[in-house]
Parts: sequence; structure tokens; C-alpha cells
Amino acid sequence: MQVANTKEHIKETILDLRKKDLSIGFVPTMGALHKGHLSLINKALKENDVIFVSIFVNPTQFDNKNDLKNYPRTLERDVALLKTVSESKIFVYAPTVQDIYGKNPKAIKFSFDGLEHEMEGEFRDGHFDGVGTIVKRLFEIIKPDKAYFGEKDFQQLQIIRKLVEKHKLPVKIVGCKIHREASGLAMSSRNERLLENHRKEASFIFKTLKEAKKKFGTKSATKVTEWVTKQFKKNKLLTLEYFIIADIETLKPVKRKSQSKKYRAFIAVYAGEIRLIDNIALN
Ligand code: PAJ
Repeated sequence: MQVANTKEHIKETILDLRKKDLSIGFVPTMGALHKGHLSLINKALKENDVIFVSIFVNPTQFDNKNDLKNYPRTLERDVALLKTVSESKIFVYAPTVQDIYGKNPKAIKFSFDGLEHEMEGEFRDGHFDGVGTIVKRLFEIIKPDKAYFGEKDFQQLQIIRKLVEKHKLPVKIVGCKIHREASGLAMSSRNERLLENHRKEASFIFKTLKEAKKKFGTKSATKVTEWVTKQFKKNKLLTLEYFIIADIETLKPVKRKSQSKKYRAFIAVYAGEIRLIDNIALN
């Protein structure tokens, strides 16, 4: 398996693959790979001749220095795991901060038509500028035909679609279903840091989302939101940060339901120190 650390190396590889007329898929990650990532990788392998997986903990998308410092970096294990999936069809790009940003890592300021101010944007200052900066940079280096993003980070997926549309980037964005543990908890590298009792209780998040979906069939968004808030008030181990039912195009909280629109419920919860996010399609 080829593991490249520099964009020069990547560019050579890409040129070679393009000469052979091979289609290129791309899965950007921050490493600490788990089955959620692998579900994207397997989908990308089915739809392309070869794929690139980037492994890069992007400093400009962290608003919290400690979070950046503590983010797990497990390159060797990640590469070993990818090898078990495919030795020959997966290329890894694991650049240094210097290779991507030079001496001064800095995010570009973007407008994503307001998508960036909702939910995660409200709670994580500058986060989506950092995500937009790195993803645009990686698209420019790898020039993939298709790129794969998880619905686990649905707001990120919609923002990347907006980035591609606004900047007319020649890549097709593919959204991928949320991969869950047997308990229903959405897979995340953060799950490993959950204390045993929190981990058990965290299945409550998806259970509540599924109930909320049922209720949304007959009740208003306000009533469903009140119900969810009440459930979490009763929960001793989990603290609700937000629960929002939003239009999937604008990500703005729904006021009055419309038959012609699609909605999702979005949630962020603290289990001790660990912040978990999840979402569910409502219609
Ligand atoms: P990371 O958190 O490593 O996630 C990489 C990709 O895997 C994202 O598209 C994310 O939505 C997807 N993913 C993670 N857990 C998933 C799950 N349980 N089910 C389905 N998909 C899942 O997201 C990032 O990295 C970064 O912001 C990045 C896009 C790489 C830019 O730095």
C-alpha cells in the first residue's frame, strides 16, 4: 500500500493513475479509523477503480486547543486496517501540517449561505471555515471524480455540497448512511473515550431520536422538541446541548411543517466530558 506524505508524491501517483484512465474516489478522514469510516471506504471502492484516503488531523477546524492536542493519532494502526480492506486499490495521503499549510496554518473565510451559522456552527466557532479550507485544498491536490462524506456529520456534508456548488469544483459528492454500533450509538472515534456507564447509556440518544421521528408524524416540531428536552432532563448521565428539527436544505429550525420539504432532527449531547452528535431523517 502506498502511503504518501507530500503533495508532490501524490501528484505523481495521480498523473500515473489518470494516464491509465482509472476513476478516482476520495474519502477524507482525520484517522483513528473505525467501522464508520470503513463503510465510506467500502462504498467508494465499489464505485471507483481506485480510492484515496486522507489521514490528517486538521488544526484549523478545531476551536479548542486541548481537543486538537488530544485527538488520537494512530497512523500505523489505520494503515494496517486499510490493508485488510484492499492493498492495491487504496492509496493513503497522510500529510504533515507543513505540507498542507506551510508555516502558518490558517483557515480561509467562507460563506456557505448561512449553513455555517446553524447548530455546530453556533457551538464551534470557525469550525466550518477550517473544514472548507482543508477539503477544498485536498480536492485540489487529489482531483477526485467522487468524494464520500458521512451523514453522521450531516451539516458538514451539506456545507461541502455548497462549497462544491459555489466554487464549481469538478467533483461529485456522495453522502453515506450513518454506521451504528449494535446498541444504536453512531460510531465515532470519541466512543472509545466514553466511560463504561456513559457508553451503555449513550444508546438512549438514538432511541430518543427514533421516538422523536414517530412523534413528528403527528405533532409539531415545538412539541417534539419539548418532549425530547424533557426526556434528557430526566436522564442523570447525559446532558442535552441542543435538539433541533431543521429543513435539510437550509438547516434552519422548522417553524411550520410543509409537505414539500425534507426534515431531519439533529442532536448534540454530553456524556461526561465527551460530546456526541447524531441525527435522523424524519420524512
Ligand atoms: P472524521 O471525523 O475522521 O470523519 C471522516 C468521515 O467519516 C466524515 O465524512 C464523517 O461524516 C464520516 N463518518 C464518521 N463516523 C461515521 C459513521 N458512524 N457513519 C458514517 N460516516 C461516518 O469529518 C472529518 O473527519 C473531517 O471534518 C474532515 C472531513 C476529514 C475534514 O478534516
